[in-house]
Amino acid sequence: MYVTSNLKDMIINEARFHISSPSVDKCPDGKLHEYAFIGRSNVGKSSLINMLTGRKGLAMTSSTPGKTMLINYFLVNDQWYIVDLPGYGYAKRSKADRERLEKMIKNYIARREAMTNLFVLIDVRHKPQKIDIEFMEWLGENGIPFSIVFTKLDKLTPTAGKKSIAAYCETLLEQWEELPPVFATSAEDRRGRDAILDYIEQMNSLPL
Ligand code: GTP
Ligand code: MG
Repeated sequence: MYVTSNLKDMIINEARFHISSPSVDKCPDGKLHEYAFIGRSNVGKSSLINMLTGRKGLAMTSSTPGKTMLINYFLVNDQWYIVDLPGYGYAKRSKADRERLEKMIKNYIARREAMTNLFVLIDVRHKPQKIDIEFMEWLGENGIPFSIVFTKLDKLTPTAGKKSIAAYCETLLEQWEELPPVFATSAEDRRGRDAILDYIEQMNSLPL
């Protein structure tokens, strides 16, 4: 059911921080493919980025949610970008801050042509939440290519992990005719890494 990897592994020779942008207008010139990561605060975006690139301190991670407030660009192999987006729905932010961030994120997603795929992260332990379901609906309505990445698989037994993902997908199929690609990952034990990197490698070969 999940995307798995058959290709030879993509090798990450280099990954480095490139720029933090406060809005879509200040992003790099858009000549390279970029892959953005989004999800609720604390879902594990920064940890996943560190795991994918194999650079522990690349994206900041913290147990204090809501740290990432900017559009953070990381250049990989001098060829493509990983983009760490702010988490949505963090309750401790003021309403005005939440609205400002939501506008910034949606502007980026809807207007950024170089964004080849959006990875939407879901904590595998959580039941489907309105905020994520509605966000994916918005992506569908706006024709944004996206995939779902379940995070923190190491926190459940293999059976419980599979069950939780299957239940989530069933909920999605109440509204969607077809599911987007689904990845099962853990930043702790690195599962799902090759599958995501292969997927990115395939898209890198498409014209921008
Ligand atoms: P914001 O930037 O605040 O929106 O959070 P984020 O989505 O970037 O989450 P971050 O990567 O900072 O991780 C949040 C917490 O979850 C940290 O304490 C991580 O160590 C933990 N965490 C992230 N991924 C995993 C995982 O795969 N397994 C386990 N066990 N913990 C994880
Ligand atoms: Mg983060």
